[in-house]
Amino acid sequence: MREKLIFHEALSDNVFKQRLTQLMTKTLTARSLSLLLVFAFSTPILKTASAQTAETNKASLVIHSDQAGPTINRDIYGHFAEHLGRLIYEGLWVGEDSKIPNTRGLRNDVVGALKELHVPVLRWPGGCFSDEYHWKDGIGPRDKRPRRPNASWGGVDTNAFGTHEFMDLCELLGADAYINGNVGSGTPQEMMEWIEYMTSDSDSTLAQMRRQNGREKPWKVPFFAVGNETWGCGGEMRPEYYADEYRRYATFIKNYSGNRIQKLAVGSHDDYYEWTEVLMAQAGRFMNGLSLHYYTLPTSNWQKKGSATEFGEKEWYATLVRTLRIDEFIQKHSAIMDKYDPQKRVGLMVDEWGTWYDREPGRDMGALYQQNTLRDAVVAGINLNIFNKHADRVKMANIAQMVNVLQAMILTDKEKMVLTPTYYVFKMYKVHQDATLIPIDLSSPEYKMDQNSLPSLSASASRDKEGKLHVSIVNLDPNRPAEVSTTVSGSTVKNITGEILTASTMNAMNTFDNPSAIKPGTFSGYKLQGSQLTLNIPAKSVVVIELQ
Ligand code: AHR
Repeated sequence: MREKLIFHEALSDNVFKQRLTQLMTKTLTARSLSLLLVFAFSTPILKTASAQTAETNKASLVIHSDQAGPTINRDIYGHFAEHLGRLIYEGLWVGEDSKIPNTRGLRNDVVGALKELHVPVLRWPGGCFSDEYHWKDGIGPRDKRPRRPNASWGGVDTNAFGTHEFMDLCELLGADAYINGNVGSGTPQEMMEWIEYMTSDSDSTLAQMRRQNGREKPWKVPFFAVGNETWGCGGEMRPEYYADEYRRYATFIKNYSGNRIQKLAVGSHDDYYEWTEVLMAQAGRFMNGLSLHYYTLPTSNWQKKGSATEFGEKEWYATLVRTLRIDEFIQKHSAIMDKYDPQKRVGLMVDEWGTWYDREPGRDMGALYQQNTLRDAVVAGINLNIFNKHADRVKMANIAQMVNVLQAMILTDKEKMVLTPTYYVFKMYKVHQDATLIPIDLSSPEYKMDQNSLPSLSASASRDKEGKLHVSIVNLDPNRPAEVSTTVSGSTVKNITGEILTASTMNAMNTFDNPSAIKPGTFSGYKLQGSQLTLNIPAKSVVVIELQ
């Protein structure tokens, strides 16, 4: 629904207003209350900002290295690639005949940079697009594939990038495939056949067709979702109706030739708790995961979200307020899931998250291209710390999206590529993948803005398989450094190394003319005296340290 509104900015005022009215009426119950609360909370923020002065914040951190939490599933560091704007075409796929160096059509520079992130899982082909995608359009000789309108995001899809190309990308990246099936305009048969085509090693007609199309051995497909946002662009369904549809479709997701699929159901967004309640009550036992979508808008207003690059401290603050809300959403959706699934068998899959800003002047309406600044890096660091904290329930998260769309890792312009501040956060945080969560106690002063305040620090700790302890810390305060008096209980720290991502301005960014304006440097802001460790975390920074 939200994205339709974005795309429909291009429609006439009347159609647009009609859609807006529908949205407001439809969601007036569950969502409007929270929206009102957010507005109420944000009103003072949007007045003249009166920030704190630049004294040092004193904080304390206890890392309980002698205790162990759950494993941080590496899939929390997952990604999402939709047929949208210049993500697939140009961003990832340039075709075999392109002058841009490529491997079987996939651009080498982008794939090389993504490999550095250890992408664990990649969701495709949408988003809203998945509920209009018919997989048979995207197999066989490319020059024979049909060209179809991309009804969600505009333009025409050549289908040059289909199942084989996506699986090739996953293999190049070493990522697991997460395929999002079509419920909105598809059928259980179409879904069932796609799975057979990809995963069967038999001599069935579809498995033979895959071989004729160049792939002898079946692929592994560990994750398959039954639709996307079926409460919105995926079919405007009621939760009761979708719960039944889910059960029907999920029945036909079969395991062929040793492949084991985790079946994922469409979950809620934001604070739409009724959806989670109904899905868990009526279909919980048939699923392995339930999704959650939450986007950070500086304003909470889909018609005027705020600029990606031109903002001051009040917008910085407002963006972080809204990012932090995901903690509450995860807690409350998890509490509902706990009622029906106390064993935590069903994962909460936050398979769309990230910042969403206004379209840049001159850019395509449906392309959702946006720049990425230090503020996005801070947003990424906070979110990843929150997902780690909830690792007992959150089993996957997929930032939206991988290249050229929303909070991207990479931006491209023809043969040029830049790595965003968000890319560097994912690179620094990859040490948490599959590590054991270590409990922490963090006490940090508040970052105040007018009458409101936020915790000024966000942190997370884990121990990897080699026994190394990693701590990620974000200083949300753009003015005040933090002096963190740190105790590591249960270990003696002998050696510290670390990286820091920061800049002198809140909106520091990498551009095609200046691609290295912001990148990680060595972190040297620590002092170890006996067992007393002091960390000096600069204002507006993301730090990851390794303790041995
Ligand atoms: O990520 C962009 C869009 O946001 C997705 O297609 C949709 O699922 C969500 O609303």
